[in-house]
Amino acid sequence: MSAFWHWFVVIITLAFTAGMVWLFIATGKTKVPTGTNREGQETTGHVWDEDLEELNNPMPRWWLWLFYASVIFSLVYLVLYPGLGRFDGVLGWSSEGQYREERAAANAAFDERFGELVAMPLEELAAHPGALEAGRNLFRTNCSTCHGSDARGARGYPNLTNNHWIWGGQPDQVWTSVYEGRQAAMPGFDGALDEQEITRTAVFVQQLAGQSVDQTMAAAGRRHYDMLCAACHGPDGTGNPALGAPDLTAGIYTYGSSIDDLRHTIRHGRQGVMPAQRDLLGEARSRLVTAYVLSLNMNGSDD
Ligand code: HEC
Ligand code: HEC
Repeated sequence: MSAFWHWFVVIITLAFTAGMVWLFIATGKTKVPTGTNREGQETTGHVWDEDLEELNNPMPRWWLWLFYASVIFSLVYLVLYPGLGRFDGVLGWSSEGQYREERAAANAAFDERFGELVAMPLEELAAHPGALEAGRNLFRTNCSTCHGSDARGARGYPNLTNNHWIWGGQPDQVWTSVYEGRQAAMPGFDGALDEQEITRTAVFVQQLAGQSVDQTMAAAGRRHYDMLCAACHGPDGTGNPALGAPDLTAGIYTYGSSIDDLRHTIRHGRQGVMPAQRDLLGEARSRLVTAYVLSLNMNGSDD
C-alpha cells in the first residue's frame, strides 16, 4: 500500500468515526421547540393534515450507549488489529500469519497420520494404491493449475507424464523439484546476438532436434551455439539437469517449437519457477504427490 492510500484510509476512517460522534452530540444538544397536545404528550410543534403531530420522543438511552460502545470497540480494534492503512496493529496479528500457523498445524497432523506410510521409499510409494489415491487428489488441488489435471503440462509448464525431465527423473531429483522447488535461469542473448544470428541459432536448435533445416544457416548457428549455449545445454545439446537446462535433442519444448518461439527464448531467455512445496504442503503430502508424479512415468509414454 502506498503512503498515499495509507493516509487516505487512515484519515477517512478516523474522520468518519469522529464525524458520527460529533453528529450525535450535536443533534443531542439541539433544542427542539416543544409543545403539548390534547393528550398531554410532548410534541415538536410540527402538524400535518391538521391533526397528525410529531411527538418529541428522544432516542432511547440504551441505544445511544450502544452507539458509543461500538465507537470505542472499533477504536480499540483498530489499535490492536490491522485495519488502519499500513498500520499492523499492536498485537501483530495477520490473517496470513494465522493461515500459516493453521497450515503448519494441519501439515504436522497429516505428517503424523501418514508418517509410517510416507517413510516408505518413493519407488515403493509410487506402487502403493492408497498412497497414489491420496497423491492424485493432492495433485488435483495443488499442481493441476499449472501442470494440468492430466499432468501433461501447458505452455510454460512442463509435461510430467513423459520420460523427458528438465531437472532429472530419478526419484530423489523429482523429490527435490517438488519439495525444494526449482528456479530456471536461461539468460537472454538480445544484444550479444543480432536478429539474423538469433534466427540462425534457432535453426541450429531445430537441427539438434532432428528437423531438416537449411544447412548453411544451421552451420552458422552452430558456431553461436558452441560459444554461447554449449556450456549449459552441453556440446551435443543433451542438456544439464543440474542447471535445469533442457535436452534440446528431444524436440520436446516447454515454450513451444516454432522458429518464433525458439527465437523468443534465445532473445529474452526463460526463467521458469517451480514453487517449493516444503512450506505449502509439508513433507508427507509432498512425498505422496511426488510418488504420484513418479507413477505417471512408470507407465508413461515418451511423447
Ligand atoms: C546459463 C545457462 C544457459 C545458457 C548459456 C543457455 N541456456 Fe537455454 N536454457 C537454460 C535453462 C535453465 C533453460 C530452461 C528455462 C526454463 O525452464 O524456464 C533453457 C531453455 C532453453 C530453451 C527452451 C526449451 C524449451 O523447453 O522450450 C531453448 C530453446 C534454449 N534454452 C536454447 C538456448 C540457446 C540456443 C542458447 C545459446 C544462445 C542457450 N539456450 C543458452 C540455460 C541456458
Ligand atoms: C505456479 C505453477 C506451478 C505449480 C502450482 C506447480 N508447478 Fe511444478 N513446475 C512449474 C514450472 C514453471 C516448472 C518448470 C521450471 C523450469 O522452468 O525448469 C515446474 C517443474 C516441475 C517439475 C520438474 C519437471 C522436470 O521436467 O524436471 C516437477 C516434478 C513438478 N514441477 C511437480 C509439481 C508438483 C508435484 C506440483 C504440485 C505439488 C507442482 N509441480 C506445482 C510450475 C508449477
